[in-house]
Amino acid sequence: MAQHHQKVVLVGDGAVGSSYAFALMQQGIAEELVIVDIMKERTEGDALDLEDAAPWTFNKNVYSGSYDDAKDADLVVITAGAPQKPGETRLDLVDKNLKIIKSIVSPIVESGFNGIFLVAANPVDILTMAVQKFSGFPKNRVFGSGTSLDTARLRMALAKKFNVSPEAVDAYILGEHGDSEFANFDEALIGGRPLKLWAAEAGISDADLDQILYDTAHKAYEIINRKGATFYGIGTSLARITRAIFRDEKMVLPVGAWMEGQYGLNDIYIGTPAVIGANGVEAVIEATLSEEEAAKMAASAKTLKEVAEGGFA
Ligand code: NAD
Ligand code: LAC
Repeated sequence: MAQHHQKVVLVGDGAVGSSYAFALMQQGIAEELVIVDIMKERTEGDALDLEDAAPWTFNKNVYSGSYDDAKDADLVVITAGAPQKPGETRLDLVDKNLKIIKSIVSPIVESGFNGIFLVAANPVDILTMAVQKFSGFPKNRVFGSGTSLDTARLRMALAKKFNVSPEAVDAYILGEHGDSEFANFDEALIGGRPLKLWAAEAGISDADLDQILYDTAHKAYEIINRKGATFYGIGTSLARITRAIFRDEKMVLPVGAWMEGQYGLNDIYIGTPAVIGANGVEAVIEATLSEEEAAKMAASAKTLKEVAEGGFA
């Protein structure tokens, strides 16, 4: 991927897409941002509105475009699709969003696009698999936001509980971006020390950690019940992943990565730490799991496989 030309085509200019666009602008991550949506006027309005931020930020080149603009793009980010209504799970969205994904991937591939696909629309692990299948792109160049948002939620909750900065917390949510996700607390660190040691010293019990995990996995529902959608968190997670790609950071980030034997899994995208750089997912980091956690990973994968097989696989 060319390093000098950092062009993003964003497909889906709703709550998530526009939050991502704003985060990219604020952080000066891309040189060129093209916004595509079936609601053409909204993309035009958003491009004009974002342009008003340009004099005070870094990114000066943002405009409303079409799939053909992907021909020389480095990254296509897909945030198009229906979000959950209160009471719906992410998996409930699969039928309508698979149709949308198909209608997007074909014209992008036809444009001659040869970069990286990053998927956020839900159910993200299934839709990432669909993007790979419909595009035929190499698996390292198609990946999902996976458990990046969930990991941010977990780190924030742990930071509050342990009274440290979230940046000091090295802990991951693994598995489905959804109800079956889990954390491997045994490998988690705070400031280089095992989190479990900190917990023992601070009188924080396993039940407290289980509650943090439960709250993390249910936080989206809490937000959706109050304001109808979640978008700032995922918009910023997507911007962080974009930065790792464009700066070839080799940063370890939680994403939805293709499994080739890791965790005993194959032929599925699932949330795991991975090395992210200019080539997309450059390595999957297989977390060490206890017997109980391995069973949770297997259950998460089984849920996803069943949905994928019912949908398109
Ligand atoms: P939204 O309804 O605000 O926006 C969706 C956008 O997609 C709309 O602008 C719509 O016009 C557009 N769209 C629909 N069909 C299209 C098509 N065929 N081509 C181009 N654009 C099309 O929804 P939102 O709140 O922005 O959520 C978008 C998706 O992101 C949902 O599936 C939601 O569940 C998901 N999401 C994922 C995460 C995550 O962590 N991965 C977090 C939050 C939301
Ligand atoms: C989230 C979305 C709804 O905020 O997937 O987790």
